[in-house]
Amino acid sequence: MSKIYTLISLLFWITVCVLAHAHGPRSPACKSVPGSGGWPSLETWTALNQSIGGRLLQPTPPGAVCHPDQTSYNPAQCPLVQSSWFTESLHSDDPVSAQWNNWNNDTCLPDPRAPCSAAGYPIYVINATTAEHVKAGIDFARTQNIRLIVKNSGHDFTGRSSAPNSLSIWVHHMKGIKEHKKSFQLRSCNVTIEGHAITAAAGTQMQETYRATALLNRTVVGGNGRTVALGGFITGGGHSILAPHYGMAADQVLEMELVTPMGEVLTANECQNTDLFWAFRGGGGSTFGVLTSITLKTIPSPSVMTLTFQFATSSSSPHAFDAITYFISQFPSLADAGVTGYPIIFNGVANGSDGGQTLASGVIGKVIVLDTHNATDILAKFEPLFAHINATWPGFVFFTSTTYHPSFGAWYEENYDPSPVGYGSVMGSRLLDTPALAANATATKLALERFSAGGQATVYIVSGKGVWDAQPRGGSTAVNPAWRRAVVHATASVSFAPLNETARAAAISQTNSLTAALRELTPSMGAYVNEASRYEPDWQHTFWGDNYSRLLKIKRAVDPDDVFWCVPCVGNERWHEVDDVLCRV
Ligand SMILES: Cc1cc2nc3c(=O)[nH]c(=O)nc-3n(C[C@H](O)[C@H](O)[C@H](O)COP(=O)(O)OP(=O)(O)OC[C@H]3O[C@@H](n4cnc5c(N)ncnc54)[C@H](O)[C@@H]3O)c2cc1C
Ligand SMILES: *[C@@H]1O[C@H](CO)[C@@H](O)[C@H](O)[C@H]1NC(C)=O
Ligand SMILES: *[C@@H]1O[C@H](CO)[C@@H](O)[C@H](O)[C@H]1NC(C)=O
Ligand SMILES: *[C@@H]1O[C@H](CO)[C@@H](O)[C@H](O)[C@H]1NC(C)=O
Ligand SMILES: *[C@@H]1O[C@H](CO)[C@@H](O)[C@H](O)[C@H]1NC(C)=O
Ligand SMILES: *[C@@H]1O[C@H](CO)[C@@H](O)[C@H](O)[C@H]1NC(C)=O
Ligand SMILES: *[C@@H]1O[C@H](CO)[C@@H](O)[C@H](O)[C@H]1NC(C)=O
Ligand SMILES: *[C@@H]1O[C@H](CO)[C@@H](O)[C@H](O)[C@H]1NC(C)=O
Ligand SMILES: *[C@@H]1O[C@H](CO)[C@@H](O)[C@H](O)[C@H]1NC(C)=O
Ligand SMILES: *[C@@H]1O[C@H](CO)[C@@H](O)[C@H](O)[C@H]1NC(C)=O
Ligand SMILES: *[C@@H]1O[C@H](CO)[C@@H](O)[C@H](O)[C@H]1NC(C)=O
Ligand SMILES: *[C@@H]1O[C@H](CO)[C@@H](O)[C@H](O)[C@H]1NC(C)=O
Repeated sequence: MSKIYTLISLLFWITVCVLAHAHGPRSPACKSVPGSGGWPSLETWTALNQSIGGRLLQPTPPGAVCHPDQTSYNPAQCPLVQSSWFTESLHSDDPVSAQWNNWNNDTCLPDPRAPCSAAGYPIYVINATTAEHVKAGIDFARTQNIRLIVKNSGHDFTGRSSAPNSLSIWVHHMKGIKEHKKSFQLRSCNVTIEGHAITAAAGTQMQETYRATALLNRTVVGGNGRTVALGGFITGGGHSILAPHYGMAADQVLEMELVTPMGEVLTANECQNTDLFWAFRGGGGSTFGVLTSITLKTIPSPSVMTLTFQFATSSSSPHAFDAITYFISQFPSLADAGVTGYPIIFNGVANGSDGGQTLASGVIGKVIVLDTHNATDILAKFEPLFAHINATWPGFVFFTSTTYHPSFGAWYEENYDPSPVGYGSVMGSRLLDTPALAANATATKLALERFSAGGQATVYIVSGKGVWDAQPRGGSTAVNPAWRRAVVHATASVSFAPLNETARAAAISQTNSLTAALRELTPSMGAYVNEASRYEPDWQHTFWGDNYSRLLKIKRAVDPDDVFWCVPCVGNERWHEVDDVLCRV
């Protein structure tokens, strides 16, 4: 009798322990979703709202104004939303919308024929303007077991700033730039860094940063977009047309203000919170906490001489990729000679001059040199290459034109990246070093031809000596070590139709196979996490190389409860998405 009782009792306690492990309050199996037992009551959300001065939003998707069955239906506004859907600002100024429709799972396109629900969007949003608002959001998500995301401009190519059933900290309205004219004194640290610097709030966007520094006759090592924000840009590393001279954007950072996953508001620099200071510079967004402001070195604004060029031949020419490969094999020496910029391979695109009757292949782009009035300084570097192509392979046409801008700001205002957004897209990318570009023309040619098979591929010259030899504060950053050997950042994107799972799967698979061409060409290199595929195999090593293990150790130490989770993000291995719910593996 008593033995049976003991056995039953033992089984009971084993069952309780197993259940507690799987579902108990201490470590729930999944993040809470509305309708699940753990989802906070309305009163709890209201208390959060009150603690942040009423800044909690429950937004409707912006496309809902086009749908008669939605409460925010507004037939007068719908045409405006439809026409601005392809512009960046609609999505960067919206609390929940991503720039690429697929990251909101196409659940509310501004098309009355499509279905509309908020299922692909976060449920609540904190419109944060201070570190205290950010802390309130992090603490709430941690203690209430809510999936947490951070949205800035929503530009992310891997969907890290979107998630269903989540609370979002929207940092877009964290604005403001402060100037440090002569030097910057690190906080709680006996170090003064000489030179001009700015402190910018994490929601500050690229165009705002360039405009503010241009007024001071200076500039920053920044990206080429307009609405891309410093928060995501710098946490991913930040490539720039100026990086080959000065190092990457993350290499310019002097100090950061941030909120950790445990809700501590901290300063990180080379003498305090040094692990976080290292990890936040390249270790990836929304992983180690939320950046609230960044102090960056500025640089004197250079003058810019631009060469806009194109060479092309019929896609049926057997020599198209011989010439393209030859041209690209010259990039390491062009980079050594101070040329940087944005060449793009096109492969089998309609010839605009004959109404699309024939297809053309070649390279088009804008490349620059700094601090010269003399156009020959750039032309003389390219003319021999074009002459070689012209003399070696028949049937090529060439175009060149040069432009001078007296300041980097003036250059940027005419040469920012104007790419449209607002459709479904996935990207693949690879960093290419000198051997990949120039060691074996046959191998490079086969790889570039395959990589650009979707129509076009960027082969940006955004690395070089300045990135290889950068001297970041504190000695190093978490930027992918492959950047320190790269010359070219190559990307290819595949767009796809909405609401079609077959098309989506095909685009992912195509991106993967395009990218495989470059992985095979250069297995020892890696890729840039901010412009890459969410579905990259071996992503830990591809995005962070040998530094992944240190990043993982830091992640486990600062975020033991996995308050921050995203793909592809350091330390995400313990959870996975089961449809729209985040659960432990
Ligand atoms: C038109 C265009 C041009 C571009 N040009 C360049 C370029 O020249 N160089 C370059 O390097 N990249 C460039 N990019 C890529 C860009 O760096 C990434 O899209 C980047 O993720 C955008 O960051 P965001 O904060 O604006 O976007 P979001 O999508 O809002 O955020 C991106 C990631 O960062 C996280 N995050 C954002 N803010 C914070 C914060 N304050 N604290 C913690 N995590 C945060 C988000 O949670 C997410 O994980 C370009 C992109 C576009 C669309
Ligand atoms: C938060 O409070 C503000 C001000 O009281 C209110 O306008 C807003 O609707 C509240 N947010 C939510 C999600 O209830
Ligand atoms: C978010 O906050 C900013 C700054 O206070 C304000 O201008 C903006 O209107 C707010 N946005 C929403 C959607 O409430
Ligand atoms: C600060 O550093 C300087 C130079 O390294 C040193 O002379 C000075 O004593 C230090 N001051 C403090 C308060 O540690
Ligand atoms: C910037 O340069 C212009 C032209 O040389 C000059 O007039 C202006 O005063 C400078 N501004 C600052 C803030 O140095
Ligand atoms: C495009 O078409 C025009 C007009 O027929 C032709 O002159 C040009 O050579 C073509 N370009 C290429 C790259 O084939
Ligand atoms: C421009 O530069 C070229 C060489 O790069 C030089 O030969 C020429 O004299 C320069 N012209 C002027 C006007 O300085
Ligand atoms: C290409 O060669 C042709 C004839 O050989 C010549 O007329 C033309 O100027 C050359 N173009 C370039 C860009 O070298
Ligand atoms: C160059 O690459 C080709 C194609 O991958 C390969 O067959 C060849 O062996 C390589 N040549 C050398 C010298 O490595
Ligand atoms: C979905 O996409 C696939 C692959 O691109 C295509 O073959 C199919 O016709 C599409 N389906 C619809 C309903 O458009
Ligand atoms: C980061 O990677 C670089 C290059 O592989 C290596 O030299 C460095 O020791 C690594 N740092 C850490 C902390 O793992
Ligand atoms: C996206 O939508 C599809 C179709 O409605 C659904 O099956 C899938 O679970 C959704 N994905 C997420 C992450 O919510």
